[in-house]
Amino acid sequence: MAGKAHWRIGIAGLGNVGGGLLNLISERPGFAPAGGRAVISGVSARSRSRPRSVDISNLPWFDDPVALAASPDTDIFVELIGGSDGTAKVAVETALKAGKPVVTANKALIAEHGAELAALAEAKGAPLLFEAAVMGGTPAVKMLREAMVGDQVEQVAGILNGTCNYILTEMEASGRPFADVLAEAQRLGYAEADPTMDVGGFDAAHKISILAALAFGCAPTYAAAEIEGIDAIEPIDIRLAKDLGYRIKLVASAVRSAEGVSVTVHPALAPLSHPLAQTGGALNALFIQGRTIGRIFIQGPGAGSGPTAAAVAADIADVMTGARRPVFQAPASTLKPFARVDARLAVGRAYVRLLVRDEPGVIAAVTEALAEAGVSIDSFLQKPVEDAGGVPIVLTTHVAPEEVILGAVRRIASLSALIESPRMIRIARI
Ligand code: HSE
Repeated sequence: MAGKAHWRIGIAGLGNVGGGLLNLISERPGFAPAGGRAVISGVSARSRSRPRSVDISNLPWFDDPVALAASPDTDIFVELIGGSDGTAKVAVETALKAGKPVVTANKALIAEHGAELAALAEAKGAPLLFEAAVMGGTPAVKMLREAMVGDQVEQVAGILNGTCNYILTEMEASGRPFADVLAEAQRLGYAEADPTMDVGGFDAAHKISILAALAFGCAPTYAAAEIEGIDAIEPIDIRLAKDLGYRIKLVASAVRSAEGVSVTVHPALAPLSHPLAQTGGALNALFIQGRTIGRIFIQGPGAGSGPTAAAVAADIADVMTGARRPVFQAPASTLKPFARVDARLAVGRAYVRLLVRDEPGVIAAVTEALAEAGVSIDSFLQKPVEDAGGVPIVLTTHVAPEEVILGAVRRIASLSALIESPRMIRIARI
């Protein structure tokens, strides 16, 4: 099909990204290098009449996105509906079964059903592309699928959720609690009405599962990701971490070892001078550690109408120019879920915050609990009593297996001088 003069694009889903793509195609229909011109063959969305920044009155309308995917007038089907199942999946399968190229921004769909969709796509000889699913306009997918295949990737890790990064940045700047900042972000349109996918860490887990599959040549294995969000982060942790020279970020990481792969999403402390700590607001950032190339760092927008539409357009351009690659790094017939390595076996450092009664011997009891568990203290800070509520203590540990640190925290939690449960936050291993 490459070399056609006109490519008829069917777009299902006309939110921020769909609107951005309509604008991009109307302004620059010849955006694909040597790849012909894009024309819109049809659009579909939940509501035809909803006010939009772009006029769709002259475009063929489809009530049913599946019919748009099946239409003989659709050469390339663009899925911007979202959601791992339901209409988005049926529409994508319909297009692929008909041998049509599919471009999607749907990270949940690819993270949860990527292997079966890749098998269908490759059996039908139809590209299935999803640059916009991870880091919006910042090209992480093509980097791993194409540019890094000459090396062996050992780790990918970074900040993959702009909403969480925005909230953490605002919490630090204003000193306000999570719930206040989230409510404000929702009012300003930075956070969804239902923020669970973002603040619970699930969106970042979808994205890191996709990157792990691309980096390590395995099937996306979302079910194996260990996920913790940012909803329990308190202003005091942000403040104390800063006193110790760190900033709290939501870090998504996939690490390969001889035993398998560990995929985690959790809050983590990055040293203030670290590029992750300096990634503020809604920006995304990613480290890629290659065995011979070493470390690569990219940073950029992870969302937004224009940037994400540009990533969708880059995939459309790949279809137009006839680029052909396996959907992931290896042919779908060889993709296997990765062997999951329990992240608690990994070795690292941690921040631990305690609130204890102001009594003699409490510090001794805390340090004894750590020593008994085999955890060595790196730094220790006791803050003056702020009110009658107890004494805040914060410490960082030396390197130890995570399960050993968790064991120490459990011992501390059982001390009678503890006023509330200890708060443990990992120190980023990047
Ligand atoms: N909700 C995502 C974020 C953007 O906050 O980063 C789309 O992937």
